[in-house]
Amino acid sequence: MIGHRKDLLGLEDLNKDEIISILDTARTFREVLDRPIPKVPSLRGLTAANLFFEASTRTRLSFELAQKRLSADTVSFQTSGSSVSKGETLKDTARNIEAMGIHLVVIRHQSSGAPHYLAHNLDAAIINAGDGTHEHPTQGLLDIYTMREKKGRIDGLRVAIIGDIMHSRVARSTIWGLTKLGASVTICGPTTMMPAEVERFGVTVASRVEEAIEGADVVNILRIQLERQRAGLYPSLREYARVYGVTHERLQGARPDTIVMHPGPMNRGVEIAQDVADGAHSVILEQVTNGVAVRMAVLYLLAGRDEPAEPGPETVAPPTPRRAVEGSPAMSAPATKGAPR
Ligand code: CP
Repeated sequence: MIGHRKDLLGLEDLNKDEIISILDTARTFREVLDRPIPKVPSLRGLTAANLFFEASTRTRLSFELAQKRLSADTVSFQTSGSSVSKGETLKDTARNIEAMGIHLVVIRHQSSGAPHYLAHNLDAAIINAGDGTHEHPTQGLLDIYTMREKKGRIDGLRVAIIGDIMHSRVARSTIWGLTKLGASVTICGPTTMMPAEVERFGVTVASRVEEAIEGADVVNILRIQLERQRAGLYPSLREYARVYGVTHERLQGARPDTIVMHPGPMNRGVEIAQDVADGAHSVILEQVTNGVAVRMAVLYLLAGRDEPAEPGPETVAPPTPRRAVEGSPAMSAPATKGAPR
């Protein structure tokens, strides 16, 4: 479990120990992913539903893959082609899905708070896969996981986060997680894209991107949300790239062993230069790989099977979590139709 939680709704809610327990569990599953047969039976008998009311490439595929790697049954839902287009409410959609015996619900929604609404109304475990401009906790966790693996620690790390902080659910989750674990976070972006209550986050605000990057162990670059240009929050993409784009030249101010991160999807040549996106410091694709392990950990822990898979030697047989022995409670479908505890 993650503490005594039924759901994962955001990193603001979690304490340091809960975050570390997810990261440690993810490390075990990361090892599983490198094995010849990257699959464990941990969630056999459970069913997960992926409800995506908003576009996604990485998060949706990553959750689906994580569920398959854990041997869960999965069903997926996208708004187009569903009865939402006929006026069905979120609650009715979700209740119908739960009536089909779903134990874990992954939801991405354009409205901040939609996962919280489901969490209050459904017995299933709810995982927030991005809600409006609020949080994207598994992205925050995979960012922090990647930093921890690359740098060996989070405490004392200097992290620069550059871009549209105000509208970024990724930034919120990453900042909450990093500050709880003792990192020093500097944010930078257009003043029109800074949250009003910025002091609440416990970060330093830099007015120039060079200042934010100076001495950084990690440079985390956010997607410029193209739809915001119409709202007049920045003059043009060219101007944004000129003032805030992370280029090879600007990166010279960071530590020599700095890592460059981006949650995707990237606007190459705007917030991130081509040679930075594909350069030696970039760990952007490693973030994606780590994301599967992090989501496996979250699914596994929320399913109530709170002992991680034994690393064990590489063998042809898939590794088996200690409690997940055939016939044990951990391998059986839950006795009740509610959350998989
Ligand atoms: N990082 C992220 O959330 O990407 P997707 O929108 O493709 O899921």
